Amino acid sequence: MKLPFFHKKEEESVLYPNENIAEHIAIIMDGNGRWAKKRGMPRIAGHKEGVSTVVNIVKTAVNCKVKILTLYTFSTENWKRPKTEIEFILRLPKEFLSIYLPDLIANNVRIEIVGDIEKLPVHTREAIEYAMERTRNNDGLLLNFALNYGSRDEILNAMKEMFLDITKGEFSLDELDEQKFSNYLYTAGMKEPDLLIRTGGEIRLSNFLLWQLAYTEFWFTDVLWPDFSEKDFLQALKEYGNRKRRYGGL
Ligand code: IPE
Ligand code: IPE
Ligand code: MG
Repeated sequence: MKLPFFHKKEEESVLYPNENIAEHIAIIMDGNGRWAKKRGMPRIAGHKEGVSTVVNIVKTAVNCKVKILTLYTFSTENWKRPKTEIEFILRLPKEFLSIYLPDLIANNVRIEIVGDIEKLPVHTREAIEYAMERTRNNDGLLLNFALNYGSRDEILNAMKEMFLDITKGEFSLDELDEQKFSNYLYTAGMKEPDLLIRTGGEIRLSNFLLWQLAYTEFWFTDVLWPDFSEKDFLQALKEYGNRKRRYGGL
Protein backbone atom coordinates (compact mmCIF):
# COMPACT_ATOMS: atom_id res chain seq x y z
CA MET A 1 0.00 0.00 0.00
CA LYS A 2 1.48 3.32 -1.01
CA LEU A 3 0.17 5.60 1.65
CA PRO A 4 1.31 8.89 3.10
CA PHE A 5 3.23 8.50 6.29
CA PHE A 6 1.60 9.97 9.31
CA HIS A 7 3.37 12.21 11.64
CA LYS A 8 2.73 15.17 13.87
CA LYS A 9 2.30 18.46 12.06
CA GLU A 10 1.30 20.92 14.74
CA GLU A 11 0.93 23.83 12.29
CA GLU A 12 -1.97 22.07 10.49
CA SER A 13 -4.25 22.44 13.47
CA VAL A 14 -4.81 26.09 12.43
CA LEU A 15 -6.81 24.75 9.48
CA TYR A 16 -9.58 23.99 11.86
CA PRO A 17 -12.13 26.66 12.81
CA ASN A 18 -11.89 27.78 16.40
CA GLU A 19 -15.57 28.01 17.16
CA ASN A 20 -18.23 25.32 17.21
CA ILE A 21 -15.81 22.48 17.03
CA ALA A 22 -17.24 19.04 16.30
CA GLU A 23 -15.73 16.94 19.06
CA HIS A 24 -17.20 13.64 17.89
CA ILE A 25 -17.40 12.98 14.15
CA ALA A 26 -19.03 9.83 12.79
CA ILE A 27 -18.52 8.81 9.16
CA ILE A 28 -20.41 6.41 6.91
CA MET A 29 -17.60 5.58 4.50
CA ASP A 30 -19.61 4.68 1.40
CA GLY A 31 -18.88 4.39 -2.31
CA ASN A 32 -15.85 2.08 -2.49
CA GLY A 33 -17.52 -0.38 -4.86
CA ARG A 34 -18.72 2.34 -7.24
CA TRP A 35 -15.27 3.95 -7.21
CA ALA A 36 -13.76 0.69 -8.42
CA LYS A 37 -16.54 -0.02 -10.94
CA LYS A 38 -16.01 3.39 -12.57
CA ARG A 39 -12.43 2.32 -13.22
CA GLY A 40 -13.30 -1.15 -14.46
CA MET A 41 -11.71 -2.63 -11.36
CA PRO A 42 -13.11 -5.26 -8.94
CA ARG A 43 -15.02 -3.90 -5.91
CA ILE A 44 -12.24 -4.96 -3.56
CA ALA A 45 -9.89 -2.47 -5.25
CA GLY A 46 -12.22 0.24 -3.98
CA HIS A 47 -12.03 -1.11 -0.42
CA LYS A 48 -8.25 -1.15 -0.60
CA GLU A 49 -8.16 2.43 -1.87
CA GLY A 50 -10.61 3.34 0.88
CA VAL A 51 -7.96 2.46 3.45
CA SER A 52 -5.76 5.29 2.10
CA THR A 53 -8.63 7.68 2.76
CA VAL A 54 -8.94 6.32 6.30
CA VAL A 55 -5.25 7.07 6.88
CA ASN A 56 -5.64 10.62 5.52
CA ILE A 57 -8.75 11.40 7.50
CA VAL A 58 -7.38 9.95 10.75
CA LYS A 59 -4.27 12.05 10.24
CA THR A 60 -6.35 15.17 9.65
CA ALA A 61 -8.53 14.39 12.67
CA VAL A 62 -5.40 14.08 14.84
CA ASN A 63 -4.07 17.38 13.49
CA CYS A 64 -7.41 19.09 14.06
CA LYS A 65 -7.58 17.74 17.60
CA VAL A 66 -10.91 15.99 17.03
CA LYS A 67 -11.76 14.03 20.18
CA ILE A 68 -13.67 11.07 18.73
CA LEU A 69 -13.81 9.70 15.19
CA THR A 70 -16.24 6.82 14.59
CA LEU A 71 -15.87 5.05 11.24
CA TYR A 72 -18.60 2.76 9.91
CA THR A 73 -16.44 -0.03 8.56
CA PHE A 74 -18.69 -3.10 8.35
CA SER A 75 -22.38 -3.33 9.15
CA THR A 76 -24.44 -6.23 10.46
CA GLU A 77 -26.17 -6.14 7.05
CA ASN A 78 -22.90 -6.34 5.09
CA TRP A 79 -22.83 -10.13 5.76
CA LYS A 80 -25.27 -10.32 2.82
CA ARG A 81 -22.39 -9.61 0.41
CA PRO A 82 -20.38 -12.24 -1.46
CA LYS A 83 -18.06 -14.21 0.81
CA THR A 84 -14.90 -13.12 -1.04
CA GLU A 85 -15.75 -9.44 -0.58
CA ILE A 86 -16.54 -9.93 3.11
CA GLU A 87 -13.27 -11.76 3.67
CA PHE A 88 -11.35 -9.03 1.89
CA ILE A 89 -12.96 -6.24 3.94
CA LEU A 90 -12.40 -8.06 7.22
CA ARG A 91 -8.70 -8.51 6.47
CA LEU A 92 -8.21 -4.75 6.08
CA PRO A 93 -8.19 -3.82 9.79
CA LYS A 94 -5.25 -6.17 10.39
CA GLU A 95 -3.42 -4.84 7.33
CA PHE A 96 -4.05 -1.24 8.34
CA LEU A 97 -2.94 -1.82 11.93
CA SER A 98 0.16 -3.80 10.97
CA ILE A 99 1.38 -0.71 9.11
CA TYR A 100 -0.01 2.17 11.14
CA LEU A 101 -0.27 1.04 14.76
CA PRO A 102 3.18 2.49 15.65
CA ASP A 103 2.17 5.84 14.13
CA LEU A 104 -1.17 5.77 15.90
CA ILE A 105 0.57 5.08 19.21
CA ALA A 106 3.11 7.86 18.53
CA ASN A 107 0.20 10.23 17.93
CA ASN A 108 -1.53 9.28 21.20
CA VAL A 109 -4.54 7.70 19.40
CA ARG A 110 -6.73 5.25 21.30
CA ILE A 111 -8.42 2.50 19.31
CA GLU A 112 -11.82 1.11 20.21
CA ILE A 113 -14.45 -0.99 18.52
CA VAL A 114 -18.19 -0.53 18.48
CA GLY A 115 -20.10 -3.57 17.31
CA ASP A 116 -20.41 -7.28 17.97
CA ILE A 117 -16.78 -8.35 18.00
CA GLU A 118 -17.64 -12.00 18.82
CA LYS A 119 -18.87 -12.78 15.32
CA LEU A 120 -15.80 -11.42 13.52
CA PRO A 121 -13.09 -13.72 12.15
CA VAL A 122 -10.40 -14.47 14.74
CA HIS A 123 -7.66 -12.62 12.81
CA THR A 124 -9.74 -9.42 12.64
CA ARG A 125 -10.62 -9.66 16.32
CA GLU A 126 -7.09 -10.35 17.45
CA ALA A 127 -5.64 -7.45 15.47
CA ILE A 128 -8.19 -5.02 16.90
CA GLU A 129 -7.95 -6.37 20.44
CA TYR A 130 -4.16 -6.07 20.32
CA ALA A 131 -4.44 -2.46 19.09
CA MET A 132 -7.02 -1.69 21.79
CA GLU A 133 -4.72 -3.09 24.45
CA ARG A 134 -1.66 -1.23 23.16
CA THR A 135 -3.49 2.12 22.97
CA ARG A 136 -5.60 1.73 26.11
CA ASN A 137 -3.89 4.52 28.03
CA ASN A 138 -3.71 7.04 25.18
CA ASP A 139 -5.80 10.14 25.65
CA GLY A 140 -5.61 11.79 22.22
CA LEU A 141 -8.04 11.00 19.41
CA LEU A 142 -10.42 8.13 20.20
CA LEU A 143 -10.65 6.16 16.95
CA ASN A 144 -13.72 3.93 16.95
CA PHE A 145 -14.13 1.28 14.31
CA ALA A 146 -17.77 0.29 13.87
CA LEU A 147 -17.27 -3.34 12.88
CA ASN A 148 -20.13 -5.79 12.63
CA TYR A 149 -22.14 -2.84 13.88
CA GLY A 150 -25.89 -2.48 13.55
CA SER A 151 -27.88 -0.01 15.55
CA ARG A 152 -30.95 -2.19 16.04
CA ASP A 153 -28.74 -5.07 17.13
CA GLU A 154 -27.00 -2.73 19.56
CA ILE A 155 -30.28 -1.44 21.00
CA LEU A 156 -31.74 -4.95 21.38
CA ASN A 157 -28.58 -6.21 23.11
CA ALA A 158 -28.64 -3.19 25.38
CA MET A 159 -32.26 -3.90 26.30
CA LYS A 160 -31.53 -7.55 27.07
CA GLU A 161 -28.61 -6.67 29.34
CA MET A 162 -30.58 -3.94 31.00
CA PHE A 163 -33.54 -6.19 31.73
CA LEU A 164 -31.17 -8.73 33.24
CA ASP A 165 -29.79 -6.07 35.57
CA ILE A 166 -33.28 -4.92 36.48
CA THR A 167 -34.29 -8.53 37.19
CA LYS A 168 -31.23 -8.89 39.40
CA GLY A 169 -32.46 -5.86 41.30
CA GLU A 170 -29.54 -3.60 40.40
CA PHE A 171 -31.99 -0.78 39.76
CA SER A 172 -35.70 -0.35 39.27
CA LEU A 173 -37.67 0.54 36.15
CA ASP A 174 -38.52 3.90 37.72
CA GLU A 175 -34.84 4.78 37.85
CA LEU A 176 -34.35 4.11 34.13
CA ASP A 177 -33.57 7.24 32.15
CA GLU A 178 -31.82 8.08 28.86
CA GLN A 179 -28.43 8.36 30.52
CA LYS A 180 -28.75 4.94 32.16
CA PHE A 181 -29.91 3.34 28.95
CA SER A 182 -27.01 4.83 26.91
CA ASN A 183 -24.59 3.13 29.26
CA TYR A 184 -25.67 -0.21 27.82
CA LEU A 185 -24.80 0.80 24.25
CA TYR A 186 -21.42 0.14 22.61
CA THR A 187 -20.79 3.88 22.83
CA ALA A 188 -21.21 3.95 26.63
CA GLY A 189 -19.45 6.92 28.15
CA MET A 190 -18.80 8.62 24.79
CA LYS A 191 -20.18 12.00 23.85
CA GLU A 192 -22.81 11.63 21.11
CA PRO A 193 -21.66 12.55 17.58
CA ASP A 194 -21.80 16.26 16.78
CA LEU A 195 -21.42 15.67 13.06
CA LEU A 196 -22.32 12.76 10.81
CA ILE A 197 -20.69 12.60 7.38
CA ARG A 198 -21.85 10.19 4.68
CA THR A 199 -19.91 9.92 1.44
CA GLY A 200 -21.06 8.15 -1.72
CA GLY A 201 -24.29 10.03 -2.44
CA GLU A 202 -26.87 7.99 -0.49
CA ILE A 203 -29.07 9.97 1.87
CA ARG A 204 -29.76 7.39 4.56
CA LEU A 205 -28.40 6.07 7.83
CA SER A 206 -28.19 2.35 6.99
CA ASN A 207 -28.71 1.28 10.61
CA PHE A 208 -25.92 3.49 12.00
CA LEU A 209 -26.10 4.99 15.51
CA LEU A 210 -29.88 5.49 15.49
CA TRP A 211 -30.05 6.38 19.18
CA GLN A 212 -26.85 8.43 19.27
CA LEU A 213 -27.64 10.60 16.22
CA ALA A 214 -30.86 12.06 17.69
CA TYR A 215 -29.50 15.64 17.61
CA THR A 216 -26.45 15.23 15.38
CA GLU A 217 -25.81 17.54 12.41
CA PHE A 218 -25.78 15.66 9.07
CA TRP A 219 -23.50 16.34 6.12
CA PHE A 220 -23.85 14.34 2.91
CA THR A 221 -21.60 14.37 -0.14
CA ASP A 222 -21.63 12.63 -3.51
CA VAL A 223 -17.86 12.18 -3.30
CA LEU A 224 -17.03 8.46 -3.16
CA TRP A 225 -15.04 7.42 -0.09
CA PRO A 226 -11.75 6.65 -1.92
CA ASP A 227 -11.88 10.18 -3.41
CA PHE A 228 -12.80 11.88 -0.11
CA SER A 229 -9.97 14.30 0.68
CA GLU A 230 -8.71 16.33 3.58
CA LYS A 231 -10.22 19.34 1.81
CA ASP A 232 -13.68 17.72 1.77
CA PHE A 233 -13.36 16.80 5.44
CA LEU A 234 -12.36 20.36 6.38
CA GLN A 235 -15.29 21.67 4.31
CA ALA A 236 -17.66 19.53 6.40
CA LEU A 237 -16.09 20.82 9.62
CA LYS A 238 -16.38 24.38 8.38
CA GLU A 239 -20.05 23.98 7.51
CA TYR A 240 -20.66 22.37 10.88
CA GLY A 241 -19.11 25.47 12.45
CA ASN A 242 -21.83 27.60 10.84
CA ARG A 243 -24.76 25.44 11.98
CA LYS A 244 -26.95 26.56 14.82
CA ARG A 245 -27.89 23.70 17.12
CA ARG A 246 -31.02 24.30 19.11
CA TYR A 247 -31.93 20.93 20.62
CA GLY A 248 -35.58 21.89 20.54
CA GLY A 249 -34.94 25.19 22.32
CA LEU A 250 -34.69 28.66 20.83
C1 IPE B 1 -18.60 1.12 1.66
O1 IPE B 1 -18.53 1.00 0.29
C2 IPE B 1 -17.82 0.04 2.36
C3 IPE B 1 -18.65 -0.98 3.02
C4 IPE B 1 -19.94 -0.98 3.07
C5 IPE B 1 -17.95 -2.05 3.67
P1 IPE B 1 -19.50 0.05 -0.54
O2 IPE B 1 -18.85 -1.28 -0.67
O3 IPE B 1 -20.85 0.03 0.04
O4 IPE B 1 -19.48 0.78 -1.94
P2 IPE B 1 -20.74 1.04 -2.89
O5 IPE B 1 -21.78 1.73 -2.06
O6 IPE B 1 -21.18 -0.29 -3.38
O7 IPE B 1 -20.18 1.91 -3.97
C1 IPE C 1 -23.20 1.43 5.01
O1 IPE C 1 -22.98 1.29 3.65
C2 IPE C 1 -22.24 0.54 5.79
C3 IPE C 1 -20.84 0.96 5.78
C4 IPE C 1 -20.36 2.03 5.21
C5 IPE C 1 -19.95 0.07 6.50
P1 IPE C 1 -23.81 0.26 2.75
O2 IPE C 1 -23.29 0.40 1.38
O3 IPE C 1 -23.78 -1.09 3.35
O4 IPE C 1 -25.29 0.84 2.88
P2 IPE C 1 -26.56 0.62 1.96
O5 IPE C 1 -26.70 -0.85 1.74
O6 IPE C 1 -26.31 1.33 0.67
O7 IPE C 1 -27.69 1.22 2.71
MG1 MG D 1 -22.49 1.16 -0.23
